[in-house]
Amino acid sequence: MTAPVLEARSIRKGFAGVQALKDVSFELRPGEVHALIGENGAGKSTLIKIMTGALEADSGTLTVFGKQLRRNDPSIARALGIAAIYQQPSLFEHLSVAENIAWALETVRPWQKIHWKARKRRALELLQRAGGTIDPDRVAGSLSMPEQQIVEIAKAIGSDAKILITDEPTASLTDREVERLFVVLRTLRAQGLGIIFISHRLEEISAIADRVTILRDGETIGTRNAREVRREELIELMVGRPIASVFPKREVALGETALELRNVSSRTAGVHDVSLSVRCGEILGLAGLIGSGRTQVAETIFGLTPADAGEILVRGKSIRIPSPARAIQLGIGYVPEDRREHGIILEMPVAANTSLADVSRVSRWGWIDQGRENELAERYIHRLRIKTPSAQITTGALSGGNQQKVALARWLAIEPKILILDEPTQGVDVGSKSEIHSLMVDLAEQGLAIIMISSELPEILGMSDRIAVMHAGRISGILSRQEATQQKILSLALS
Ligand SMILES: Nc1ncnc2c1ncn2[C@@H]1O[C@H](COP(=O)(O)OP(=O)(O)OP(=O)(O)O)[C@@H](O)[C@H]1O
Ligand SMILES: [Mg+2]
Repeated sequence: MTAPVLEARSIRKGFAGVQALKDVSFELRPGEVHALIGENGAGKSTLIKIMTGALEADSGTLTVFGKQLRRNDPSIARALGIAAIYQQPSLFEHLSVAENIAWALETVRPWQKIHWKARKRRALELLQRAGGTIDPDRVAGSLSMPEQQIVEIAKAIGSDAKILITDEPTASLTDREVERLFVVLRTLRAQGLGIIFISHRLEEISAIADRVTILRDGETIGTRNAREVRREELIELMVGRPIASVFPKREVALGETALELRNVSSRTAGVHDVSLSVRCGEILGLAGLIGSGRTQVAETIFGLTPADAGEILVRGKSIRIPSPARAIQLGIGYVPEDRREHGIILEMPVAANTSLADVSRVSRWGWIDQGRENELAERYIHRLRIKTPSAQITTGALSGGNQQKVALARWLAIEPKILILDEPTQGVDVGSKSEIHSLMVDLAEQGLAIIMISSELPEILGMSDRIAVMHAGRISGILSRQEATQQKILSLALS
């Protein structure tokens, strides 16, 4: 058997109030993709931050290429050949792609002349090896999520990494982009890299991983051969209990039309001539490739990029929505895909985030009533099973999936009549995912009209009453639940 390139033994790590890792051991061999799975808050990101030196373990040992580290920090880890792609990419938005790559690889002295041409050539070559065709002159801030990831991988290849750690790299990718990423990962694996792969999508584990290690509540539960282990077994190891049906969709009696768009356009957003409607009790799926304009339609409805042509009707009344404040007044809630943008404020406590969309609910005479705010937060912490020691914890300290749930809580707390969810279960574990799905059905039953954007076709097919498919800023077709299939959606998405 080949010697491991990296070995973690009995790692413990506590934060104020939380023991994130109690006893974790993990081993990575060269030339393998080793998946790391577990529920939201199980400790996956904490473990890899200890490997990359971003965090220091309280106890336990880390051995890299047979040498036990006495201490670790980001520069030590980098020198040892450890590269990481985090849950949230970390490029410098204002620099170009080539500059970002150069910054990670070169050690330029202030007086040294910069070879722009060579820099660009090198960037281009690395980007190609990372599976992308990105112009090195583009500003990093203008890149889509998958493009940013390609740049991160290019950085890793350029730094001659021997160990590549990826934390939910596929969370915001479509099936096709995932396939492209897997091609790159397989090539790197064949070159002998050891790769750690974190994902909540179990079908990806069997597609790419050789072995899989399961974490639960900060402990290693076991390691399995990824090609032989059954899905049910993985779920049970992760959750500690069997999970009910995957999509709990129920028939709900539909009410009046809650929201209707008639030939709506928004030039700034690139939305063209969109007509759709959603009734009370209905879940309308909005499908399409990344960049097809789904999020832009949501932002137009929510008043972020107001419509400049066409008509929007809320409960049958023609209305203008020039701002999010007006949308909220009309009972429209919007859980965005990028939770850092309009979702939640990471620096604020969970409780403050929950009341953020409408502070009037927890205010008295213009002051925020702490007691009421806490009560509201506790209710949603319980309802969405948000894993946090208290409502007063800074939201940024929660695990990625639990932050997503706080974003959901924030918008549920305004008790909307119309709810737009953009990738509501992205980065959420299997257990919580089915909870969010049942919650959606409960809300529909209570008369909410829901628009759900999702890149996951099984989720679209499993949860929607009707499916509107978008292509290039337009609706290319609307399918009923009965007639919809993966093939039909895909062909509309591509047409
Ligand atoms: N900086 C921090 N301060 C306080 N608690 C933290 C901090 N970072 C992580 N935690 C806590 O440690 C636990 C493990 O979090 P971690 O991010 O490792 O989970 P995860 O397995 O990556 O989850 P997810 O699938 O949601 O990304 C969680 O309970 C989290 O709230
Ligand atoms: Mg994580």
